[in-house]
Formats: sequence, C-alpha cells, structure tokens
Amino acid sequence: MSIVYLKRLGCETKGFLSFFESGNDLGFNIKRVYYIYQVPAGTKRGGHAHRKLSQLLFCPYGQIKIILDNGFQKDEIVLDEPSKGLVVSKGIWHDMIWEKTDSVLCVAASDYYDESDYIRDYDEFIRLVKEDYWHECSKK
Ligand code: TYD
Repeated sequence: MSIVYLKRLGCETKGFLSFFESGNDLGFNIKRVYYIYQVPAGTKRGGHAHRKLSQLLFCPYGQIKIILDNGFQKDEIVLDEPSKGLVVSKGIWHDMIWEKTDSVLCVAASDYYDESDYIRDYDEFIRLVKEDYWHECSKK
C-alpha cells in the first residue's frame, strides 16, 4: 500500500488538472478503469482482497475512507482530495467507507475483471496470509 500524490496543474481561478501515466507514475500498467458513484454516505463496500491485481484508487470528488488489512495490521487512509491516490496491491484486504454522499471512487487496475482473482471470504484470506501465499506467488 502506498499513497501517491498525483501531479496537479492549475490555479484557483481556473481550476486544476491531475493526471497519471501507466509506465511513468505507477508500478504497473493499466488494463481497466472503473468507478463507483451515487453511493449514500455511510455505505461500506469492498470486503475482499485480490490474488494478483494491483489498483490505484482515487477520489476526484468527495471523501472516502479506505481500511486496509494485510492480515497482521490495519491502516486507514482517507481519500479527501482529488490529487491523492492510494495503490492497493495484491494480498491486501480492503473496505471502503463513503464518508460523504455522492463521493466518486475511481480505480485504475492492472488487469481485466476476473472474479477468480477475488478473495471474498475473510477466513480464507487469513488462511492464505498464514500459509505465505503472496510471498510464494511473488517467487513464481
Ligand atoms: P466489487 O469489486 O465487488 O465492488 P465493491 O468492492 O465496490 O463492492 O464489484 C461489484 C460487482 O461488479 C461484482 O458483481 C463484480 C462486478 N464487476 C465487474 O463486472 N467488472 C468490474 O470491473 C468490477 C470492478 C466489478
């Protein structure tokens, strides 16, 4: 997990522009972009980890709290400015909590959608952490 401050061009009178580029700003290439919107405040989504996928999360409008869990330790990151991004790598259980209505979560992902990459059962996630699944994967 790492926080990424996206480049920000502009000024208060004309507005701002932020951007990121696959090879230059991220440690992975982007194959898919998706976004989640019209979510009522207080809603929790997520509740899964990925076997292989890496993702950059950013919130261009609103405020969303991301709760991260590597099986040993939990962290919380609040995405509350459009130029702040969070890379969530494989093997991190994550929940997202909508802190303001109409906040938009955008995600740039390293691969196409594949349900078999998801781990949606927390006990299975902990079992995989304990058997060092991600360390074993990275050696392959
Ligand atoms: P999911 O990733 O579980 O969303 P969240 O973590 O925000 O709750 O996805 C919700 C549903 O959308 C699930 O049925 C899978 C589907 N989906 C796709 O078909 N393509 C995608 O790119 C994504 C991200 C999800």
